[in-house]
Amino acid sequence: MNASLAERLRIETRALHTAAERSEFMRELLRGQMERTNYCALLRNLHAVYVVLEPALERHAQHPTIAPIFLPLLWRTQALEHDLYALHGAAWATELALLPAAIAYAGRLRDLAAAQPALLLSHAYVRYLGDLSGGQMLREIVAKSTTLDGAHAIAFYDFGDALASRELTRAFRDGLGAVPMNHRKARALVDEAKLAFELHQRLFDELATTCGLVTLRQP
Ligand code: HEM
Repeated sequence: MNASLAERLRIETRALHTAAERSEFMRELLRGQMERTNYCALLRNLHAVYVVLEPALERHAQHPTIAPIFLPLLWRTQALEHDLYALHGAAWATELALLPAAIAYAGRLRDLAAAQPALLLSHAYVRYLGDLSGGQMLREIVAKSTTLDGAHAIAFYDFGDALASRELTRAFRDGLGAVPMNHRKARALVDEAKLAFELHQRLFDELATTCGLVTLRQP
């Protein structure tokens, strides 16, 4: 039997997921004491992605590939704005730098919205299933972190209670199963998900460099 789209996305991006998890910046976040300015840099640059992705999904909500996974309860733009306001203050949008990788990522999403809206599904997969999975572990870490005032700035990870997160995960996976599919389309969607991980990797690398986390490695 052919693997479902959900299975293919999970299996074929697994190695890239592992690389993202092990990136310098994510490891620093997982340690639980990330400096507030560095965490704000992450949120500010992720905001640049969601603020393009979500209107693009809205615009193409009726598209046959997007409609099954169109779940506005997942949207993160306002939650990110809440956390950035709480952690940095009202001027976050002008005072926190946008990195080239985030600008490039937003550009890719704009191009897709204009010419290949079906591929937006892959970016929704990488972001929202990530937020609903590993994001829920990060929520605990950020909440406990004394550097991040976690009690007041975890809206980004908040999808309601655990039941709501599981329901949204199930709804998204069911949606993936309902997308009209053929071999060529599945290949294009999986390739785009791989690109989404690579764009994240580039962003994490730039964040690690600008935040001074990169250490010289032995050859
Ligand atoms: C901080 C590091 C991270 C940790 C600890 C983490 C952890 C996890 C865990 C435990 C799962 C559930 C795996 C399963 O159900 O078998 C998961 C799923 C997922 N994560 Fe991550 N993750 C991290 C970073 C990321 C990043 C940076 C992205 C995106 C760029 C991402 C995207 C995803 C996606 C798309 C899934 C769903 C896989 C699927 O079931 O199809 N994760 N993650």
